Amino acid sequence: MNIISAIQEMQSLALSLKREGKTIAFVPTMGFLHEGHASLLREGRRLGDVLVLSIFVNPIQFGQNEDLERYPRDMERDCRIARECGTDIVFTPEAAGMYPPGFQTSIRVRELSLPLCGASRPGHFDGVATVVTKLFNMVQPDVALFGNKDYQQLAVIRRMTHDLNLPVRVIGMPIVREADGLAMSSRNSYLSPVERRSALCLSRAIRLVRERFAGGEHSASTLLAAARELITAEPAAVIDYLELRDSASLAPVDLVSDTTLLALAVKIGTTRLIDNTVLGDTP
Ligand code: PAF
Repeated sequence: MNIISAIQEMQSLALSLKREGKTIAFVPTMGFLHEGHASLLREGRRLGDVLVLSIFVNPIQFGQNEDLERYPRDMERDCRIARECGTDIVFTPEAAGMYPPGFQTSIRVRELSLPLCGASRPGHFDGVATVVTKLFNMVQPDVALFGNKDYQQLAVIRRMTHDLNLPVRVIGMPIVREADGLAMSSRNSYLSPVERRSALCLSRAIRLVRERFAGGEHSASTLLAAARELITAEPAAVIDYLELRDSASLAPVDLVSDTTLLALAVKIGTTRLIDNTVLGDTP
C-alpha cells in the first residue's frame, strides 16, 4: 500500500494509471475509519483495478463553532484498516496544499444544500462539494463510493457530478449500524457511556416511524409527533431537525410514501449525530 500526500504526485499517478487503461475506485473520507468506511473500501476493491482512499479533514466544511480541531484522528489505525480492505493508495493531502493562499473558488449545489444539515450548518455543503470536486480531479476516479448515512451529502454529490458532467459513477452504500442500532460514525467516539445509550433514540425513532408507516399511518405530522415524543423523552437529547421529505428533491411532504426520507439530527450532550431512512427501503 502506497501512502501519498503530495497532490501533484497523486494526480500524475492517477493520470498514468488511466493511460494504462486501469479503472480507479475511490473512497473519500475524513479518516478515523469504522466498519461503515470498511464496507465502502471492500465494495471499491470489487469495482476498480486500483483502490484509492483519501483521508483529509476538510476545514472548509466545518463552521466556526464546530469540531474541526477535536475531530478524531488515528492514521496508524486507518492505515491498518485500509490495508486489510485491500487499498492500494492512501491519499493524505495537507490543508495548505488544498487551499493555498489566494484560493477563492467554491462549488455550490444551490437547492439541495439548503434544508436539513444545510440549514443548521450554513456553507457546509459548499465545503463538501468543493473538496469532492478537487479530490475527483486529483484522483481521477471512475467510481466513487459514499455512505447513505450522510444522505443529503450523497444527494448533493450526485447532483454536482451530474450537473458538472464529471465522468464519475457515484455509488451510495447502506448505513452500517452497531448491533444495537446506532449508525456508525467517527463522531460516536465523542460519546460517554451514558451518552452512548442515549444516542439510541435516533435509531429507535427511525424504527418507530417505519413501524407506524408499515401499519398504515401516512400523515407526516402524526409520524413526526411520535418520533419527537420518543426522542424528547431522552433527557440528554436535543433535536436539531426531524423531518420527512421527498427522497429525491428533499422537499417537505405532508403525506408519506415509500420514497419519503426520514432525516434527523440530534445533539446528545455536545455531540451532534445524524441518521436517516427511506421508508420504502429495506432497513
Ligand atoms: O463524508 C465525509 O467524510 C466528508 O464529508 C467527505 C465526503 C470526505 C468530504 O470531506
